[in-house]
Amino acid sequence: MRRPPLRVLLALLVVAVPAAALAARPGSAAVASAHPLATRAGLEVIEAGGNAFDAAVAVSAALGVVEPFASGLGGGGFWLLHVAGEDRDVLVDGRETAPGEARADMYLDAGGEPVPGKSQRGPLAAGIPGLPAGLVHLSERYGRLPLADSLAPAIRVAREGYPLYARMHGGLLYKAPELRKHPAAATTFLQDGEVPPIGTVIRLPGLATALERLVSDGAAGYYRGETARALVEAVRENGGIWTEEDLAGYEVVEREPLVGRYGDVSIVVPPPPSAGGVALIEALNILAAFELAEMKRPDRVHLVVEALRRAFRDRGYLGDPDFVSMPIERLTDPDYAAGLRASIRIDRATPSEVFAPLYASAGGTETTHFSVIDADGNRVAGTQSLNAWFGGGFLVPGLDILLNNEMDDFAVKPGAANLYELVGANANGIEPGKRMLSSMTPTFLESPRGVAVLGTPGGSRIISMVLLAALAWADGADAEAIATMPRYHHQYLPDEIQYEAGTFTAAELEALRGRGHALSEVGRNYGNMAVVTWDYDGNRVRAASDPRGEGVGEVY
Ligand code: DON
Repeated sequence: MRRPPLRVLLALLVVAVPAAALAARPGSAAVASAHPLATRAGLEVIEAGGNAFDAAVAVSAALGVVEPFASGLGGGGFWLLHVAGEDRDVLVDGRETAPGEARADMYLDAGGEPVPGKSQRGPLAAGIPGLPAGLVHLSERYGRLPLADSLAPAIRVAREGYPLYARMHGGLLYKAPELRKHPAAATTFLQDGEVPPIGTVIRLPGLATALERLVSDGAAGYYRGETARALVEAVRENGGIWTEEDLAGYEVVEREPLVGRYGDVSIVVPPPPSAGGVALIEALNILAAFELAEMKRPDRVHLVVEALRRAFRDRGYLGDPDFVSMPIERLTDPDYAAGLRASIRIDRATPSEVFAPLYASAGGTETTHFSVIDADGNRVAGTQSLNAWFGGGFLVPGLDILLNNEMDDFAVKPGAANLYELVGANANGIEPGKRMLSSMTPTFLESPRGVAVLGTPGGSRIISMVLLAALAWADGADAEAIATMPRYHHQYLPDEIQYEAGTFTAAELEALRGRGHALSEVGRNYGNMAVVTWDYDGNRVRAASDPRGEGVGEVY
């Protein structure tokens, strides 16, 4: 193995001395999210005396209103918290679970093959939502204000409405054929079956009522009583399998985050059922022995891709920790990474087929992320989802709640690819009550320089986007640069580098092809990153949202 670079050794020395800033506080708060009204909701709650966790509740709920296609009460999420007073990090896991009547073969035909679309469309594709329980948990356990105050902005926007904007308009045009199949979805989002023009006011009064029930009854306001009955009735009438017991039995789980190291950066990430944390630590461990910053770009990209290829292959080991045992310690061990590193050639791409797939033993922007820091240094990185645009396209009548199609994140059959071309393995097979594996990776980066709170939607590409963000942070990039930079991706299978237009020069493309990489330009921008940073130098807080979307980051 190569000697660790000087930079790493120096960093270890620096890190050993507790940064003076640990005792300090940022003194200002910041919120970055995918929509100006959601960022506003968070700042409104901070202004009213709330902490980062109250603000997270406000932003999370407001995103469900202004980006109803991306996340909300019909879906789930992960919220990574830093509780400054206790110097403690915790992951609040509000991921959906498989309904009790779910079976391993529920999306297969008589011949055992996946039925196209069955795990993606309508209520049968929906897992039991975790986001409502997450809101209540965040507020009751960590907030300073009553839920009534934190949910007030979202309830107001749902009732008063907001103007239809270009990205949502585009999503409606894309999903209109699916929405037309479900009368309640068509009535809420379409006009006479057609997509309304940009600027049309979107109101979601049913959703306002559902949020108010959370205020009055806590989690029971969703998981029991009137809302639960309406959800189960609508789901079962339309081919789904939810029961009232499934809803009543849903529980948020608190999990200890994983912590990795890259040079002088500590990376705090979710454990499974997010696959992102393990993959990021594994990839960063592989890359740790290279002086990436000093390399020519094609060399650097090549090594990042080779690290991603190997980390994504190991995704096959992962699933819901409450159902499967996983070799997490081994996968995140620097010695394991050293073994993988030894198989990398600097002059040649390693074909993915060299690594046996783990299933052999047979057995965009349609999600959303927000980042918050408060004046005391509490932080939240939240990524929440319905999975695809408008989830499964099904809207619960009277409640304006779109249901997720997160069941597609399970391996519906080992070896079959899902919506994100991820090839699933046994550990992620369907079982009643089990959480489906996710790529959502809300992340903290901590170094002597300061702290970054970040994340993004983008399916499997979330992991490579956060990896590139971590490398950029290690190189000194600020919030704006991290949210803006061009992106590329590799996920083991398909064996190709996917990249945004403009990411590589012709010469760089040539150099990568020359090493044997297949390259594929993706037809659209991907990701919608939200970043908040606290630099100890000058005690500066910054916030940035991805220029690919209309989100904003604001400092208070
Ligand atoms: O949990 C997951 O990995 C997916 N359901 C996330 C989907 C997503 O990010 C879609 N955004 N483009």
